[in-house]
Amino acid sequence: MISRRNFVAASTAMVAGAGRMSAGTTNRFADLESRLARHELKDINKDDLPTPCMVVDQDIFESNLKKMADHCTKTGIHLRAHVKVHKSTEIARRQLALGAIGLTCATIAECELMSRAGFNGILLTRQPTSKNNIARVVALAQRDATFGTVVDDPQAATWLQEAARAENVKLRTVVDVFAGLTRHGIEAGRPALDLAKQVDSSKNLKLIGIMGYAGAAAHTHVFEERMKKSRNDLSGMLETVASARSAGLPVEIITGGSTGTYNVDSEMKGLTELQAGSFVFMDTLYRQIGGKNNAASFDDFGSALTVLSTVISKRHAGLCTIDAGNKALLKPTDEVKGRPDVKVENQGAEYGLLVWKDGDRDFKIGDRVEIYPSNLDMSTNVYDRYYVARGERIVDVWPIMGRSGAAQR
Ligand SMILES: Cc1ncc(COP(=O)(O)O)c(C=O)c1O
Repeated sequence: MISRRNFVAASTAMVAGAGRMSAGTTNRFADLESRLARHELKDINKDDLPTPCMVVDQDIFESNLKKMADHCTKTGIHLRAHVKVHKSTEIARRQLALGAIGLTCATIAECELMSRAGFNGILLTRQPTSKNNIARVVALAQRDATFGTVVDDPQAATWLQEAARAENVKLRTVVDVFAGLTRHGIEAGRPALDLAKQVDSSKNLKLIGIMGYAGAAAHTHVFEERMKKSRNDLSGMLETVASARSAGLPVEIITGGSTGTYNVDSEMKGLTELQAGSFVFMDTLYRQIGGKNNAASFDDFGSALTVLSTVISKRHAGLCTIDAGNKALLKPTDEVKGRPDVKVENQGAEYGLLVWKDGDRDFKIGDRVEIYPSNLDMSTNVYDRYYVARGERIVDVWPIMGRSGAAQR
């Protein structure tokens, strides 16, 4: 292990760029990993990081969280923040501290992760149907009475009732009603109402509300079009809510919504809570949908996440190779921070290409390049940690948990 003195001396001798060492400098990277594990972050800068890796801009990230929290306070809608986008207990903790009433999760593994971290108000937004998932849902309800799940099928409600009865548990249940996205949601009207009645009359299920996730509206381009689509896609679900209430069923929560429709849903006064997730970091595809106040770019929230990469070859005019490739989930829709003129192209598993026309603005080998990803859920799934940066300095490291493989299932 190198001493702190050597580490600082070596830092000073570093050339600005991608971690190149001049002859004779101590290898300050030898114990980087153990220093990170001990959270000794002093003097660690972006230039010191192994690439490709994920970097969160702390100021932009915090401002995104605060902006959503302020929006919810102002409009009276609650945030039950979707964690699938970040898979980080550190981030969930910050969202809850700013007033989120709970968390939404796409998988039972995410629910378990968040529950083990001590968080309440977790809602599983994907109906459990395997024996394995049903048993784990019941186990979660056993350890936390505030945990709940969605159902969109009478059969699943029956299975959940039987499993909950076997463990003498009361399981909070939300009926998931179709809202324009064909992947889930029972048909609005009679079928949804009957399912709500079935849940309500199941001894071990507790009907708490209705979900309508208008996922097809989330990425609709042009604010007015998005508003129209969201209203249209949620209308059947909202009629079902009205019928359920008239029938005397308890509909405590009406949950749905996304980053793209956050300011549509709150104005519409239909949903009581928002399940938005992506706003914490934002991605390039969301930028393109256009905002309420800026038709060219949906910039209500800032781009807080980049994949940090290094230029590894520059042998051809107008083109260079970076070390983030297919395995880093590089996409042609990604964008280069500070260089909107540069196109991103896939090349191979560990190689990506940057292509540009402006000959005066070349990249050089060793240059650091930050890439804004296109699909956060997919990208965060292939990294194990966020390096949190304030300017050039790394100020924190947060694990990304429950990613692909056993931990995800
Ligand atoms: C059920 C559900 N709710 C909420 C969200 C959050 O959407 P976003 O990340 O666009 O804010 C998603 C995302 O796919 C989702 O599947």
